[in-house]
Amino acid sequence: MMRTHTAGELRAGDIGTDVVVCGWVDARRDHGGVVFLDVRDHTGLTQVVVDPSTPAGADAHRLRAEYVVQVSGTVRGRPAGTVNPDLDTGEIEIGADALTVLNESEPLPFPLDTADAVDEIVRLRHRYLDLRRPRMQRNLRTRSKVNAAIRTSMVDQGFAEIETPMLIASTPEGARDFVVPSRQSPGSFYALPQSPQLFKQLLMVGGFDRYFQIARCLRDEDLRADRQFEFMQLDAEMSFAEQSDVLAAITEVIVSVVEAVTGDPPPPLRTMTWHEAQERYGSDKPDVRFGLELVDLGDVFAATEFKAFHAPAVKGICVPRGGDTSRSQLDALTDRAKSLGAAGLVWMRVREEGVLESPIAKFLSDAEQAATIAALGAGTGDLVLIVAGERRMANAVLGQLRLDLGRPPVGAGGLQFLWVVDFPLFETVGDDGRPVPAHHPFTMPHPDDVGLLSTASGDEFLALRSQAYDLVLNGWELGSGSVRIHRSDIQQQIFGLLGISADDAQERFGFLLDAFRFGAPPHAGFAFGIDRLVALLVEEENIREVIAFPKTQSGQDPLTGAPSPLDPTLLRDLGITLLPPKRP
Ligand code: AMO
Repeated sequence: MMRTHTAGELRAGDIGTDVVVCGWVDARRDHGGVVFLDVRDHTGLTQVVVDPSTPAGADAHRLRAEYVVQVSGTVRGRPAGTVNPDLDTGEIEIGADALTVLNESEPLPFPLDTADAVDEIVRLRHRYLDLRRPRMQRNLRTRSKVNAAIRTSMVDQGFAEIETPMLIASTPEGARDFVVPSRQSPGSFYALPQSPQLFKQLLMVGGFDRYFQIARCLRDEDLRADRQFEFMQLDAEMSFAEQSDVLAAITEVIVSVVEAVTGDPPPPLRTMTWHEAQERYGSDKPDVRFGLELVDLGDVFAATEFKAFHAPAVKGICVPRGGDTSRSQLDALTDRAKSLGAAGLVWMRVREEGVLESPIAKFLSDAEQAATIAALGAGTGDLVLIVAGERRMANAVLGQLRLDLGRPPVGAGGLQFLWVVDFPLFETVGDDGRPVPAHHPFTMPHPDDVGLLSTASGDEFLALRSQAYDLVLNGWELGSGSVRIHRSDIQQQIFGLLGISADDAQERFGFLLDAFRFGAPPHAGFAFGIDRLVALLVEEENIREVIAFPKTQSGQDPLTGAPSPLDPTLLRDLGITLLPPKRP
């Protein structure tokens, strides 16, 4: 047995016990011959005292940080006055009888206790060292708990775990595919899955009426704090199920995960329509941890003489105690609003009950000023910001200013999960008058709007709702799903609207459409990002911190050197000739 105890578990109750502990030398202090060691593993650290007169003494002096040691000795209470209340093991120490150096370590490229301040490339190049730190240990062990809780909950709910292939034809999730050249069919390529979407729908046709997978997905897209090329989803699909069944099943998983990690369930998951989310928060992923809600001022200015407010929408927010915002800060806010697409930003300071200070105050009647203050619930010392113009733009601009001005840091305000339902079926209408799908083209229209598919035109398409839904957590999009189209008549109609010809459809998704001809059950599903969920649970701003071996922002892996050139003979086997690199 290499060890009897971990480095973090010994307590006063163990005093007098003979123990063997293994770990890394966290610190070594030489006190006139007596050597004090902190021996660390992922459970914590224990102080070891080595007397120079014991056999252990000889080795103690050559120890350096991160040497791997095995210590045998007896647990004893620390002398009075040296108890460390900040340490779980702070009441005891091990008096060493024997010390074995299991391995040495070169000096580290960065000290582990200051790694957060170290350049990220250096951290990632030596990720195995970075991973020794309590923060990374906590993050990845929490991730393991999350995976375990997901699996237990899904299995308990009767879902079968089924793996789908990594080498596939393209999946329509909207990002670029990573591709893998085929050696046996030179000139042909596999795509790596952006999600198991089409396979899980085939599993429904195959009679697996509740499927799940902790699935690796790959998307070649620009990396951000909440995006990596490779990420993990809890992916699920259900037959003979409606939207409410999917929401209930996923809610149950989420509650189990949060309980497993924090010990308590999250606050009840709320539901909001996409329309309401846009109107109140200017976003399809509202961060509902704070107020600053958007207020419709259309009625207030219905008959105004101020021309800029003769617009399809006039929306405002009230920033509590924002009245002392300086002119230069207000100019910066105005520039920000313009960069987001607004023609301008109107600001008003509430000076005292009912009196507004604003460059445009003179254009507003007393009644309009009073109604503005009332509609926004503004009080003395508050700042009012107003954007007028096209409704989507006004909502989006104020939604972003709301985040800029009020968003709490990650970790503040608890875990506010929110279901956003009734997403629009189409995102925009192209110049050719054709609608562009908001989700993928297999998303079922809202039952009340199916009939409108055949009559809508132009911007009317944008009002059509789908049976697509998102799960949002603290302003992050955590997951998406939809009820799928399983009837070929509706599918043909959608393809027709999108301008996808029967031949095109057959070429791109023929295998799915073929499968649907053989008794596809009604089905619906969902997927949420595990990296994002874990990041928010451990209060990290970037999902890189919850991934053992992530890529940098520019998609590099400083540890292994990926991506790297391919050996010319391999290229030849694959039938690939490289073009000269593109000039920037
Ligand atoms: P969607 O594309 O919305 O839906 O993805 C679902 C969730 O996966 C996570 N995610 C990512 N996480 C990290 N890095 C990325 N690059 C990344 N891209 C997506 C997000 C996102 O909400 N097949 C559908 C689901 C369905 O309809 O059932 C899908 O993949 O948390």
